Amino acid sequence: MLREEHMEQRVNVAVIGTGRIGRLHAAHLAHRVKGARLVAVADLREESARECAAELGLSRAYGDPRRILDDPEVQAVVICSSTPTHAPLIAEAAAAGKHIFCEKPIALDLIQIDEALAAADGAGIKLQVGFNRRFDPNFHRIWELVRAGAVGDPHLLRITSRDPSPPSIEYIRASGGIFLDMMIHDFDMARYLVGDEIEQVYAAGGVRIEPAIGEAGDIDTAVVTMQFAKGCLATIDNSRRAVYGYDQRVEVFGSKGMVNTENNTPNRTRLSTSESVREDLPLYFFMERYTEAYLNEMEAFLECVREDTDPPVTGADARVPVVMGMAARLSYERGSPVSLSEIA
Ligand SMILES: NC(=O)c1ccc[n+]([C@@H]2O[C@H](COP(=O)([O-])OP(=O)(O)OC[C@H]3O[C@@H](n4cnc5c(N)ncnc54)[C@H](O)[C@@H]3O)[C@@H](O)[C@H]2O)c1
Repeated sequence: MLREEHMEQRVNVAVIGTGRIGRLHAAHLAHRVKGARLVAVADLREESARECAAELGLSRAYGDPRRILDDPEVQAVVICSSTPTHAPLIAEAAAAGKHIFCEKPIALDLIQIDEALAAADGAGIKLQVGFNRRFDPNFHRIWELVRAGAVGDPHLLRITSRDPSPPSIEYIRASGGIFLDMMIHDFDMARYLVGDEIEQVYAAGGVRIEPAIGEAGDIDTAVVTMQFAKGCLATIDNSRRAVYGYDQRVEVFGSKGMVNTENNTPNRTRLSTSESVREDLPLYFFMERYTEAYLNEMEAFLECVREDTDPPVTGADARVPVVMGMAARLSYERGSPVSLSEIA
């Protein structure tokens, strides 16, 4: 009974940025996240905010995020605007005393990240960054098993992470590149699963899919090998186009065994005939694949606001994958391994 009463204490939340991920979080907060009350949305494109509010039956939709920060009823904000706006919005929201959930990455620049983290720290508010994959039930289970010693001492980690199709060239141009936009999730996953810090990365990459991505100064295919401080070795491979859908697989191999997880499919059906054994393609992209992870991360954030505990994704967790992404880019450009200490 006590716990139910506690769940009744809902946190008033507002979403800033109602693009792809903002709409997903807003819909979750309105209908599915326990302990949340969505009270307002804002987007510089006011019609986008209005459309989102109309869909969710909200009366407050603004073209200026300041209106949300000035609203004393709002206890927490969920920042889903474009990446370059994250650090300044964190500073403003912290100054307004709002708890903050911010989509990844905080910034593509370490000084800006440090300033944003200091602003949150100084204001004494909670700040959680959107590394949603930690909250995926498959990856979380691997984390639990590795922590429990089920595979012994981790020797090798293998992460495959391939998108079904590339984003627009405009998105690519503003994204910070494949290592900071896409592989950043895998860098976070590597630290999370092994529970250790990376010392060195070596990156190779190329343009194998879209020449326009190369013309925009980025690559669409990459492999990174890494070394953890305690000796575990890791590989991550990324592609911007997997013709069979979103390919998200992980394996941890250690002294006592191996744990791995395969792709999620929309059903468990398998057709076996004299010619082949077939199943349906993996769930198409992040919106479908990580629904539970997005719900879980938001519930974890609201719980730490209510219980006054530390967020499960910390400031260091937000910063280190950016350092890793920068080291990977430098390694790709130089064609040789780069130590993280060169960047940080
Ligand atoms: N964790 C994940 O799985 C995941 C997935 C997708 C995107 N993201 C991150 O979320 C962010 C948004 O990505 P997206 O794909 O939704 O982009 P998007 O372009 O679809 O949406 C961004 C929205 O922010 C609005 N906006 C820009 N500046 C603003 C400001 N100052 N105030 C209010 N609104 C503003 C834009 O008008 C746009 O509607 C990016 O940082 C991206 O890296 C994370």
